[in-house]
Amino acid sequence: MNRMHANRRIEDDGAMTLGLTPSNRHRGAHVCPWWAGYLLVNPLRRLLENPARILAPDVREGMTVLDPGCGMGYFTLPLARMVGPRGRVLAVDLQPRMIRGLETRLRRAGLQDRVEASVCDADDLRLASEAGSVDLITAIHVIHEAPDARTFLEQCRRLLREGGKLLVLEPRGHVKKAGFDAVLGAARDCGFKQLPRPEVHRGHAAQLLRAAEAAQGFEKSKISTGRAISR
Ligand SMILES: C[S@@+](CC[C@H](N)C(=O)[O-])C[C@H]1O[C@@H](n2cnc3c(N)ncnc32)[C@H](O)[C@@H]1O
Repeated sequence: MNRMHANRRIEDDGAMTLGLTPSNRHRGAHVCPWWAGYLLVNPLRRLLENPARILAPDVREGMTVLDPGCGMGYFTLPLARMVGPRGRVLAVDLQPRMIRGLETRLRRAGLQDRVEASVCDADDLRLASEAGSVDLITAIHVIHEAPDARTFLEQCRRLLREGGKLLVLEPRGHVKKAGFDAVLGAARDCGFKQLPRPEVHRGHAAQLLRAAEAAQGFEKSKISTGRAISR
C-alpha cells in the first residue's frame, strides 16, 4: 500500500474556497482553520448530518469513545450525552483553540465531567496510556486532514479493545472515492475488518472492526487487554 495514496488532500481550489492559508497545512494536508470550528457547531448542520442518527447504532451507555479531530465538539457533546454518567469521551484535536471552544461548550452543557479533552500532535493522538481501552472511535471529517492516514489508523487500532469499532466519515466534497478506497485499504492492512456501510451518512462512510489479534497476525504484546462492554 503506497502511503502517499492513503493521504488525501483537499484540492487547492477547495482550500481557497474554505479560506485555508499555508499555516493550516502540514506535510501536504490542509487543516480546517480554527474559526471554522464555530461554523461546524451550527445547529443547522443537523439537517445534513444528524449526530443522534449517525451515532445511535454504535453508542451505548457506559462506553469509552474517542472523538479524534473533535473540533469544537459537534459530535463530542451528543456522544457525552449518549455514553451517560458512567461513560467517558476522549476528545482530542490538533488545535488548542478547538479544544478551548469545546471546553466552553462542555461547561455550558454541564458535560465536562464525562469528557477528557486534550490537544494532540498531527501524527500522535497522545493517548498511549489508553491502549486497548476504547470501545468506539468516531473519526469524522478528520482523516483527510491527517498527515499520514496509516499512522492515524495504526494508532486507532492500538487504542481500540478487541472487537471495538472505528467509524470513519469523510466529506465527498474534499475526498474523492479513490482516496477513500485507499484509506480503507490502509485500514485493512492495519488489522481492521470492514463491516456493512452505515446507511445514515451522505458522504463516504465506513464501519471498521478491530479484529482479533490472532486473526490478523499481530503481536499480542503490543496491546493491553481493555475493558469490554456488553452490547
Ligand atoms: C473538518 S474539522 C471536523 C471537526 C469535527 N469532527 C466535526 O465533524 O465537526 C477537522 C478537525 O480535525 C482536526 N485535525 C486535523 N488534523 C488532525 C490530526 N492529525 N489529529 C487530530 N486532529 C486533527 C482539525 O483541527 C479540526 O478541528
